[in-house]
Amino acid sequence: MIHYNQQKAIFHLQGPTYSYLLGVQDGVLMQWYWGGRLPNDAVEGLIENRGEGASFDTAFSRQPVAVPTQERGYMGQRAVSVRNSEGDDVLSLRYQGYRILPGKKALQGLPCSYVEKDDEAQTLEIDMKDALTGVAVTLSFTVFASYDVLARSMVVKNEGGKPFELTDVQAAMRLPADSYELLHLKGAWARERHARRVPMGEGSYAIKSRRGASGHENNPFLAVLKPHTTEDQGDVYAMTHVYSGSFSAGVDVGIDNEPTMMIGLCSDVFSWQMEPGAVFQAPEALFVYAPDGLNGLSHRMHPFVRQRICRGKWRDLPRPILVNNWEATYFDFTYDKLLAIAKRGAEIGCELFVLDDGWFGRRDSDHCSLGDWVVNEKKLEGGIQRIAQSINELGMQFGLWFEPEMVSPDSDLYRAHPDWCLHVDGRPRTEARNQLILDMGRKEVQDYVIESVSAVLRCAPISYVKWDMNRNMSEGFSCVLPASRRMESQHRYMLGLYRVLEEITSAFPEVLFESCSGGGGRFDCGMLCYMPQTWTSDDTDACERTRIQYGTSLIYPCSAMGAHVSAVPNHQTHRVTPFQTRCDVAMGGNFGFELDLSKQTEEDLATAKKAVDMVKKLRSTMQQGVYTRLLNPFANEGRAAWQFTDDHRVIVCLYVPYQQPNPQPHRVKLAGLEAEALYVDEEHGVTASGAALMNLGLIMPHGQGDHASWVYVFEKKDPAAEARL
Ligand code: DGJ
Repeated sequence: MIHYNQQKAIFHLQGPTYSYLLGVQDGVLMQWYWGGRLPNDAVEGLIENRGEGASFDTAFSRQPVAVPTQERGYMGQRAVSVRNSEGDDVLSLRYQGYRILPGKKALQGLPCSYVEKDDEAQTLEIDMKDALTGVAVTLSFTVFASYDVLARSMVVKNEGGKPFELTDVQAAMRLPADSYELLHLKGAWARERHARRVPMGEGSYAIKSRRGASGHENNPFLAVLKPHTTEDQGDVYAMTHVYSGSFSAGVDVGIDNEPTMMIGLCSDVFSWQMEPGAVFQAPEALFVYAPDGLNGLSHRMHPFVRQRICRGKWRDLPRPILVNNWEATYFDFTYDKLLAIAKRGAEIGCELFVLDDGWFGRRDSDHCSLGDWVVNEKKLEGGIQRIAQSINELGMQFGLWFEPEMVSPDSDLYRAHPDWCLHVDGRPRTEARNQLILDMGRKEVQDYVIESVSAVLRCAPISYVKWDMNRNMSEGFSCVLPASRRMESQHRYMLGLYRVLEEITSAFPEVLFESCSGGGGRFDCGMLCYMPQTWTSDDTDACERTRIQYGTSLIYPCSAMGAHVSAVPNHQTHRVTPFQTRCDVAMGGNFGFELDLSKQTEEDLATAKKAVDMVKKLRSTMQQGVYTRLLNPFANEGRAAWQFTDDHRVIVCLYVPYQQPNPQPHRVKLAGLEAEALYVDEEHGVTASGAALMNLGLIMPHGQGDHASWVYVFEKKDPAAEARL
């Protein structure tokens, strides 16, 4: 997997379908290649030496330096920047040596991808150092034998005698000169991860979050595509960050039109003081090259995220079908009201009841009590124990909502510790949703959160936790840090949060955790390392969800996406869609309900029960199978189609937003089937070969009104086996 050719000084990182070549030239680490798999490192005569000072441009502006810094005329974005004790930022990292290690180490204090056995991956560590300042960098690359994802991280050390300030740490990858498009996931609250494609241009393009969370606005993901890339063809180079805080991701097109992709901490809100001997671990970045379009990207990312980012007991287990009371009651509930909803849930086969916001302190609105994680017995008679027990008696598990990183100014916690929130003395503490953010960088705050959440989890049979976070940072500084370290506040917050998540999830390994941030405002691989699912969006409108789930699915698997059936008119869009369509679209993720089941008609309850039965029967295919996008709802007049495939069956969902009179015929071609096998959907009367379904395609039905959807379930028959019977 990782080969080193000493004579040529070439490292060849060879994944299942990609290769990445690094080389040492005059003591500098260069990136020679990233793209389709090469059989070996025979590239003699193909590595161009662009010459030192060959023109007006000095040496490094034209060289593919693997970790570009401010030196020798390099003019582009830097991967590592420090301000040294002399006040300048020149940095000459020179190759010192390498190690090839079996497996993959964990990153100190940060989430990262992992291996279960050492023989499933190899890690290359390369040491570099600046002789003058003692700034030392160790780059790590992990190549997995059966996953097409290259994991990359970096440690910066101060091996000199004087302090310096680290101001930039980015993972950089260079692409071949070409014209490209960019794809990223843009959004806002309730319309997260809308897929956007823009021409790359010839300068720099960057997306970022300085919010202290990966955020609704830009997901930490950026892909560079050949123009005209479709779902199933075209070169895609993509990257994401295993980190949940502020980030920047960008592309910098150099003088020779070779773009460099970079992802890392957002330097607007980050710097780190490094005393002699200090060590700084940068977050992990993941890179994927796919020669076969956007589905090619997803087919490489999904199994990796599912199996080498997500972990724990729930990683491979069928996810429970839940009913959540948030949109059913908001803050206005009683024990009886909750039980009435839960009873209906149990009758239709739901497996988990989740009590959302409002059960603690005096919380009857979003104006108070965050931080006071003590049940409000006046509102919820008998406390968490009684409701949890009653839910268990109905045959369902019980789950609970928390928002542990926050504090309401009107709370006992805030009255006791007004300095525990992020703030700047002498300036207003800007509230959002009437709340402030705890300084998770402080040990005493972390301990308080661990203890208060754990105390509740210990008091009753709680099988599921929804971990919410409903605002972003403003005056996001820690008052306990000296002025020279204030810019460390956001990253220290993340390190503190990760410590808390590590402690709580390890102490309660049976509990299924789902992360949330005002919907999908922190949907990233960092959170998925602790919690194998994320609430995708507060927008549960079926039509909007086809787009949100489309964008999310570019890199995140369906088993990571919460998707619920909610009431109509929809609470976010006021749109009315059929109950069946809401069910069909919610089957694109971890299925559940978020409406007052006790108020639904018998007809809708029957539809709900049918959907629950279907999910139970099919969820192994939906959660573990291959997910393929067939029709993009951002084009195609909003029509959407997607497919789940495993060895036994194919599930196809079709969605049409509005019906046209005298419609033009539309077909949807399936993908990735066995050409010779027969696929049978008895309910819809379709028996066809894989080849026919892929080439002729399914006929998009019509005539059922607006927001119509259809789910086809094909069982696969092997004609040869049938003939033998
Ligand atoms: C935001 C979440 O996205 C919702 O699902 C709900 O849990 C509310 N917070 C509760 O305040």
